[in-house]
Amino acid sequence: MSSWSRERNQSPGVLDPHPSRTLLFLVVIVALVQGVILNPKACQLYPSSNGSSVVCQPPAEFPRYLPADTVYLSVEFFNLTQLPDTTLQGASNLRELHLSNNRLENLSAEFLFPVPRLTVLDLTHNALIRLPPGLFQASAVLATLVLKENQLEVLEASWLHGLRDLWHLDLSGNQLRTLPPGLLANFTALHILDLGNNQLETLPSDLLMGPLRLKRLHLEGNRLRTLGDDLLRPQPGLCYLFLQNNKLVSVAVRAFRGLQQLEMLDLSNNRLASTPAGLWASLGGPTRDMKVGFDISGNPWMCTPELEDLYRWLMANKDRMFSLNDTRCAGPEALRGQTLLAVAESQ
Ligand SMILES: *[C@@H]1O[C@H](CO)[C@@H](O)[C@H](O)[C@H]1NC(C)=O
Ligand SMILES: *[C@@H]1O[C@H](CO)[C@@H](O)[C@H](O)[C@H]1NC(C)=O
Ligand SMILES: *[C@@H]1O[C@H](CO)[C@@H](O)[C@H](O)[C@H]1NC(C)=O
Ligand SMILES: *[C@@H]1O[C@H](CO)[C@@H](O)[C@H](O)[C@H]1NC(C)=O
Ligand SMILES: *[C@@H]1O[C@H](CO)[C@@H](O)[C@H](O)[C@H]1NC(C)=O
Repeated sequence: MSSWSRERNQSPGVLDPHPSRTLLFLVVIVALVQGVILNPKACQLYPSSNGSSVVCQPPAEFPRYLPADTVYLSVEFFNLTQLPDTTLQGASNLRELHLSNNRLENLSAEFLFPVPRLTVLDLTHNALIRLPPGLFQASAVLATLVLKENQLEVLEASWLHGLRDLWHLDLSGNQLRTLPPGLLANFTALHILDLGNNQLETLPSDLLMGPLRLKRLHLEGNRLRTLGDDLLRPQPGLCYLFLQNNKLVSVAVRAFRGLQQLEMLDLSNNRLASTPAGLWASLGGPTRDMKVGFDISGNPWMCTPELEDLYRWLMANKDRMFSLNDTRCAGPEALRGQTLLAVAESQ
């Protein structure tokens, strides 16, 4: 008995001139299917013209070998602390590997060598504290790397050596306090970078230096205190920028300069009392709206004439504003509690 069950989707075919043979055949099929469905230790096997998908969830057993045409493997929710060295042996066509919700603490440096065609690796919700240098030496076409919700406190650029086609890097929900210089220098195809929900207080000034082509940047849920002039400058194609739930007290006047494609900006739940004159006017082209919108709620806005630039921008873009009712003045006393929009309208 193989260690997986097979999806059966054969059509009934033409009518059999021997009814008893058909009946026997049906009985055998039903027994087979039942045996397979009732066998809780089997992984599910889904053959297709493009290759097989193997999906294992408890209480199935870890697959001992994989069909040579396996293109998709999912071994999730097992709480595995280690993977057998031979896990991927013989699966050289594998494109997607999903290992979320285990308790993997480390991987061997050779783990991915048998699967040079891998494009998606999902390690969400494991217990990784580091990666072995060289892990991606044979992973030149890996495009999506998800390391979300692990225990990474530091990251070394060498851990990612070998990746050349990275399109989406997700490091959210770790314990990262700093990032090494040059981390992304080789990722010319990177479109989505998720650094959300870490402990980052500052970012290396060269973090987003080209030739990246970022469309979406997640920095929410960190401890960032300032946004400088230069961080975003190399990424004029950015469409989505998430900075909510940080400790931002200041945004530099040229921080958003050149972001002509921005569709979404979230600055909510920071510590902004004011923003410098000129910041907002530089955001987006004069004749285009943000397609999605912006959120500046949950900040202690000090509604003095200094905010004039922001008021003007709010009036022009209020139909794109989220959380209007939670965007309020913290001062001065006479305006405390008023919505920023009401104050802007009364100017
Ligand atoms: C096979 O691959 C083609 C091209 O990538 C895709 O359009 C099709 O949906 C795939 N078929 C199956 C059954 O996965
Ligand atoms: C994995 O751990 C979780 C949380 O401790 C538990 O609820 C679950 O039953 C475990 N799963 C397996 C397959 O051991
Ligand atoms: C992973 O860590 C465990 C526990 O520290 C250790 O026994 C094992 O050898 C390590 N495996 C690899 C591949 O480094
Ligand atoms: C970029 O790739 C080159 C060639 O593979 C390598 O020597 C260099 O160390 C890489 N840089 C970073 C920061 O990873
Ligand atoms: C607006 O906020 C106030 C105070 O927080 C609250 O009492 C009120 O219900 C909110 N109104 C709407 C429409 O959400």
